[in-house]
Amino acid sequence: MKRIEDLTVKDLRWLNSNSFVLELSGSKATRDIRPGNFAEIRIDNHPDVFLRRPFSYLDYNKEEKTVSFFVKAIGKGTHKLGTLKKGETVNIIHPLGNSFSIPENKKVLITGGGSGIAPFIMLGRELKEKGNEIHILTGGRTSEDILFTDEFRKYGEVSCTTEDGSLGEKGLLTQHSIFSGKAFDYDLIYTCGPDGMMKAVASIAKERSIDCEASLENLMACGFGVCLCCIQETTEGNKCVCTEGPVFNINELKW
Ligand SMILES: Cc1cc2nc3c(=O)[nH]c(=O)nc-3n(C[C@H](O)[C@H](O)[C@H](O)COP(=O)(O)OP(=O)(O)OC[C@H]3O[C@@H](n4cnc5c(N)ncnc54)[C@H](O)[C@@H]3O)c2cc1C
Ligand code: FES
Repeated sequence: MKRIEDLTVKDLRWLNSNSFVLELSGSKATRDIRPGNFAEIRIDNHPDVFLRRPFSYLDYNKEEKTVSFFVKAIGKGTHKLGTLKKGETVNIIHPLGNSFSIPENKKVLITGGGSGIAPFIMLGRELKEKGNEIHILTGGRTSEDILFTDEFRKYGEVSCTTEDGSLGEKGLLTQHSIFSGKAFDYDLIYTCGPDGMMKAVASIAKERSIDCEASLENLMACGFGVCLCCIQETTEGNKCVCTEGPVFNINELKW
């Protein structure tokens, strides 16, 4: 069940020049949180940010009642969030949306670009618990964008691409050699990131007849099915990404 909660900033840690992890404490909703779910965070004390902003959970700790978010500061709301101080209050509505499927004993590939890496720590952990063999591939413009590598290594093999070649293979995520290798025999691919990247991953998955789930980051306002601003065209008609997503099987999407 979703809740509106006032949570306390436990920590705000910048990871590079444009991204930070926001950890909030005092949540009573942590028991329901699944990999892929998201929260709508209210941006307080900004003269012209009226709408909440959606963020996937980076992680949560049931015992400590904490939830954390990975935020890429790209505009007014996210920059304002980055100015929060320990002890301040943040109002959130959560948990929202559906979640990724968790198979057992399969070979899976996780692909994340930009802020799209956020849901994959929780996903990696659950997939490992269910005996899956996991490969995590992340992409960024430079080495500064390649984050959480040590955390991801706890769950599986980790690779990356950077556009300037400063870390991993040079090029876009979908140009990684993994896609042309003989061992490209995954049962399921997960993807989250910029639309172009997800569409390219989806097209590879379709070509090879591999199941693929994409977590969409459509613009949102309410986050719970009222404003209809997050609509996505699917094979079954228009769907609300906030209530019927954000995770979709790519065969459902009119990409
Ligand atoms: C389900 C879901 C989960 C998300 N999870 C995360 C997450 O874990 N971490 C994270 O950093 N971000 C995440 N996002 C994206 C995040 O919500 C936006 O970056 C944020 O709302 C931007 O707010 P802003 O006020 O800083 O930007 P604005 O000032 O509102 O916009 C700045 C610029 O960014 C563009 N923009 C705004 N939102 C988006 C978007 N969703 N996609 C593409 N361009 C956008 C605007 O069109 C504008 O050009 C998620 C989005 C969704 C829908
Ligand atoms: S964001 Fe309002 S209906 Fe989806």
